[in-house]
Amino acid sequence: MKRDIERDIMPEIIERYSTRYFNSEPVPEKDINDILLAATLAPSAYNEQPWRFFVASTEEDRQMIMEYMTPSNIEWAKEAPVLIVVAGALYETHNGLFNYWGAFDSGCAWGYLSLEAARKGYVTHCMGGFDRFDLKREFNIGDNHELYGIIALGKPSDSEAVLNEKPGGRRRMSEIMLKRAKKE
Ligand SMILES: Cc1cc2nc3c(=O)[nH]c(=O)nc-3n(C[C@H](O)[C@H](O)[C@H](O)COP(=O)(O)O)c2cc1C
Repeated sequence: MKRDIERDIMPEIIERYSTRYFNSEPVPEKDINDILLAATLAPSAYNEQPWRFFVASTEEDRQMIMEYMTPSNIEWAKEAPVLIVVAGALYETHNGLFNYWGAFDSGCAWGYLSLEAARKGYVTHCMGGFDRFDLKREFNIGDNHELYGIIALGKPSDSEAVLNEKPGGRRRMSEIMLKRAKKE
C-alpha cells in the first residue's frame, strides 16, 4: 500500500516501506552490486566509509544468517532471496580513536541502499532482531566492528496481502523539531 503523501519529495522515499511479503526469485548479481555501490556513495565523517556488508544470497549463507534471527523475523524474512548484514568499523583509520559518527554513517549507507533498491523495483526490510554477538563470530571481525542490521532484499510478493500492508506511521513535524532552551 502506498503512503498517502502528495508532496514534492523523491518518489522512492515516499514509496519505500518495510514489507513482510517477498517474492523468493533470486536477485541478479549486477543489481545487488549496484545497490551496494549506491550504499557506498553515502557521505561519512573523514570519509572513513565505516560500513561493511555481508551478502547472503546462496541457500547455505541465508540459512546461516537465519540461525541468528528472531523467530518472528524468520517467519517473514525466510522468503527474501537476499539477506545483507550491515556492519561498521568502530575505530577511525587515521588516528585509531573511536569513530563517534560511525553508526550515523552506516545508517546513512543503509538508507542509500534502500532507496536505490526501491528505484530498481525491489523492496527492503531492515531487522535489528538478531543475535549480534553470536553472528559477529561468523565474520571473524573481533571487537573493532559492530553489527547494526540485517536487510531483507527482494522483489515484492504478488500476493493480495501486500495490498493490505500499511507503511509505518510517522511522528508529526512539531514533535521532532527541537526548540531552543529558554534563557533565564
Ligand atoms: C535498525 C532497524 C531495526 C529494525 N528491526 C526490525 C525487526 O527486527 N523486525 C521488523 O519486523 N522490523 C524491523 N525494523 C523495521 C521498522 O519497524 C520500520 O522501518 C518502521 O516501523 C518504519 O516503517 P517503514 O519502514 O515501513 O516506513 C527495523 C528498522 C530499522 C531501521
